[in-house]
Amino acid sequence: MIKVGILGATGAVGQRFVQLLARHPWFELTALCASDRSATKCYREVVNWRLDVAFPDSIGDLIVRRTDPKELDDVSLVFSALPADIASKVEVDCAKAGIGVCSNASSHRMEKHIPLVIPEVNPEHLELIDAQRKEGWDGFIVTNPNCSTIMLSTSLTPIQPLGFSDVKVATMQAISGAGFQGVAAMSIYDNVIPYIGEEEEKMERETLKILGTLKGDSVTDAPIQVSASCHRVPVIDGHTMAVWVNTPASPEKVKDAFRNYVPKISGLPSLPKKSLELLLEKDRPQPRLDRNRGDGMTVSVGRIREGIRYITMGHNTIRGAAGASVLNAELISQRKYL
Ligand SMILES: NC(=O)c1ccc[n+]([C@@H]2O[C@H](COP(=O)([O-])OP(=O)(O)OC[C@H]3O[C@@H](n4cnc5c(N)ncnc54)[C@H](OP(=O)(O)O)[C@@H]3O)[C@@H](O)[C@H]2O)c1
Repeated sequence: MIKVGILGATGAVGQRFVQLLARHPWFELTALCASDRSATKCYREVVNWRLDVAFPDSIGDLIVRRTDPKELDDVSLVFSALPADIASKVEVDCAKAGIGVCSNASSHRMEKHIPLVIPEVNPEHLELIDAQRKEGWDGFIVTNPNCSTIMLSTSLTPIQPLGFSDVKVATMQAISGAGFQGVAAMSIYDNVIPYIGEEEEKMERETLKILGTLKGDSVTDAPIQVSASCHRVPVIDGHTMAVWVNTPASPEKVKDAFRNYVPKISGLPSLPKKSLELLLEKDRPQPRLDRNRGDGMTVSVGRIREGIRYITMGHNTIRGAAGASVLNAELISQRKYL
């Protein structure tokens, strides 16, 4: 078993990590870190558990540690669910101290030698770890994309061989995407908020890197344009997106591409049976009905229409965050980087 820790273990994504790692077959969760407000206290005392699964007892007794690589000499890998401004320095400190970091934070995603990976889509980008090693890091940083970009990029992957240069997307994003304290109840009930800070920019640039080509020690962006409009809606979990892609392919060809999609990887414990699932009912996917497909790791697509227009949806704190990082860590382990 590989000993692992979580940074930001008390937050919305941190709690998902606890859920996914508590009984993981390859990783043993031994370290939980948070801010100085929570450090030195028992995890069960400081966490405001909000998930619809039982709190794992063994984890509840762990004492929360300070967020400092010096507190982490018993683990070889950490999962980061830190706010971006905090992650920026801490993650580099960990990598320099010989600890691998699988990060959800946006701080390093676009840096030249930092892989931005969805294992089914661009596993080869992990090779950028070799460039980090040449820079003298004993550890590494590997990132997963923003919680909406993962659904968009996964759904675009089977269509990429059919050819397109322009993508438009309008998101309907769940409130859990803003973190545990994120959106005030009085702001989101009975409402739609047509602005999420920096979300559109992240979708527009991250998608190009993920669908891009690894050349030497960097990634050349995919030659496409993405234009995004992001909105917060009163849904707890599950980001839904309406997508327009200017491919010459017919709806039937696109449906076939979705149906026949085969991920580039296999043999990982968190890999769902279907990474992408085509739903044929005319009113699907829906967050409440479809977010838990594949234990929250399946991206659903539906309503493929002339244009091409379609809807995609996935669980933002599992497929879009903690589950994505855990799958990255499994790939890293399978490829012997740990
Ligand atoms: N929510 C999503 O769907 C989602 C999806 C993809 C990516 N992300 C990214 O994942 C990260 C975490 O998001 P979240 O939604 O889980 O946020 P959150 O619920 O606000 O949790 C933040 C976590 O960071 C800790 N923290 C805050 N300030 C700290 C400090 N100065 N030093 C050490 N730890 C500190 C908090 O600990 P305390 O409890 O002690 O304050 C808490 O554990 C963010 O970068 C976010 O952009 C989120």
